[in-house]
Amino acid sequence: MTGKSAAVSIGDKAIELPMRSGSIGPDVVDIGSLYKQTGAFTYDPGFTSTASCESKITYIDGDEGVLLHRGYPIDQLAEHGDFLEVCYLLLYGELPTKSQKDDFDYRVTHHTMVHEQMSRFFTGFRRDAHPMAVMCGCVGALSAFYHDSTDITDPHQRMVASLRMIAKMPTLAAMAYKYHIGQPFVYPKNDLDYASNFLRMCFAVPCEDYVVNPVLSRAMDRIFILHADHEQNASTSTVRLAGSSGANPFACIAAGIACLWGPAHGGANEAALNMLAEIGSVEHIPEYIGRAKDKNDPFRLMGFGHRVYKNYDPRAKIMQKTTHEVLGELGIKDDPMLEVAMELERIALTDEYFIEKKLYPNIDFYSGITLKALGFPTTMFTVLFALARTVGWIAQWNEMIEDPEQRIGRPRQLYVGQSRRDYIPVSKR
Ligand code: SDX
Repeated sequence: MTGKSAAVSIGDKAIELPMRSGSIGPDVVDIGSLYKQTGAFTYDPGFTSTASCESKITYIDGDEGVLLHRGYPIDQLAEHGDFLEVCYLLLYGELPTKSQKDDFDYRVTHHTMVHEQMSRFFTGFRRDAHPMAVMCGCVGALSAFYHDSTDITDPHQRMVASLRMIAKMPTLAAMAYKYHIGQPFVYPKNDLDYASNFLRMCFAVPCEDYVVNPVLSRAMDRIFILHADHEQNASTSTVRLAGSSGANPFACIAAGIACLWGPAHGGANEAALNMLAEIGSVEHIPEYIGRAKDKNDPFRLMGFGHRVYKNYDPRAKIMQKTTHEVLGELGIKDDPMLEVAMELERIALTDEYFIEKKLYPNIDFYSGITLKALGFPTTMFTVLFALARTVGWIAQWNEMIEDPEQRIGRPRQLYVGQSRRDYIPVSKR
C-alpha cells in the first residue's frame, strides 16, 4: 500500500479507495471494494487502464521502449544469454549458476520426447490444416496424459508440468510442420541444444544427415528469447484466467495458443509477411499507407502499433539486427520483402499519422522475414511464437497459482439489453 488513496464520489456517496505502488511503474487504485461501497462497477473494455494482478516477472515501459525480465533488459539477455537460461530466469526469478543451468538443460532435454500415442492425433487433420489449429488440438491433447502432475496445488507437480511443456513444445511444433509438408516426424536428439534440436526436427530428412548451422541456430534461439514473455498480454491473460479455475495446465496453454493465433496478437507475424508480399514493391507503399490511415478501410499495417509500446518495441530492434545476420549468413541479398519493410518503416516513422498515434514497428514486423529466410512457411510463424511464449505463459500461470490474492477470474458487465418482460406464446407474436 502507498498510504495514498483515490477519492471517488458517486451521487451522495464519497469514498476513499486505497492505492498501491509497485517497485517501478504506475501506481494502482485498488477498486476491490468499489462495488460493495457504491454499487457501481468500473468499465474498461480491452483493459487499457486495468492491472489484473501483481507480478514480478516482466516489466514494460511503453513510453521509453523498455522491456525487463526479472529486472534484466531484453537486449542484454538476447545478446549474452540463451533461451533455456531465460526460461530458468522467468520460472525461478534469478539467473542460474553453471550447475543450475546444466541441471535445468539436462531436465528439459530429457523431456523432449512426446508419448508415441501423440502422433496419432496428427493423422486426423488434413495435411493443409493450419499448424496453429493442429497445435491447439495437440497441446490440448497433452492434458489427457501425464496424470502424475495434475495436482496444481503441489509446487513439485506444477514444476514437472512446466518443464514438460517447455520441453515438448518444440517437438510438437516440429511434428505439426512435418505433418503439414508430408514428411516423416524426426525425433529429438539429446546431444543438441534447444534451438538446434528444433531446427533439426523441422528440417532433417531420413535420406541424409542434417548439420545445424550455428549462426542460424543462434538466431533461432535469440528469436525464442525475444518472444518468451510480455507482461499481461492477451494470451497470457487467457492462460491466467483459464488457470484461475484450477484447469489442467496443458489445457490452459492450449487456450493461450488459441488466443495468440489472432492477427491482432501473435498472428501478426504471419499477417505482416503476407502484407509485405501483397505490397510487393516500394512503389506500392504509399497506397497501403493511405489505406492504413483510412478510417473506412479495415486495413492496418501489420507489425505496427502496440497497446503498450508508444515507442519503438525494443524487441523489434534486436529482431531487425537478427534479420540482417540471417540474410547475410544465407547470402540472401536484396530480399524484396526486406526492401519493402525497411522503406515502409522509414516512411511510417516520418508520417504525421503514425507519429501522432505513436505507431512503431513491433516484434512482428521483422520476424516474418527472418523466419521465412530460415525456411519456415508463413503458416508456421505463429507456431514459433507460441513455442517461445510457452515459458512466459507457464511462469505467469505458476505466479498466479502462488498468489494468495488470486481467485477465479469473474469480471462483471454493463448490461444494455432488455429489461424484464413476459413470455409471449408463438401464436401471439
Ligand atoms: C503482439 O500485448 C502484447 O504485449 C502483445 C505482444 C506480445 O509480445 O505478447 O507484444 C505481441 O501482439 C504485438 C502486436 C501485433 N499486432 C499487430 O501488429 C497488428 C497491427 N496492430 C494493431 O492491430 C494495433 O496496433 C494493436 C492491436 C497492436 C494495438 O491496438 P490498440 O492498443 O487497441 O490500439 P487501437 O487499435 O485502439 O489503435 C489506436 C489508434 C486507432 O486509431 P483511432 O481509432 O485512435 O483513430 O491507432 C490506429 C487505430 O486505427 N492504429 C493503426 C494501427 N494500429 C493502431 N492504424 C494503422 N495501422 C496499425 N497497425
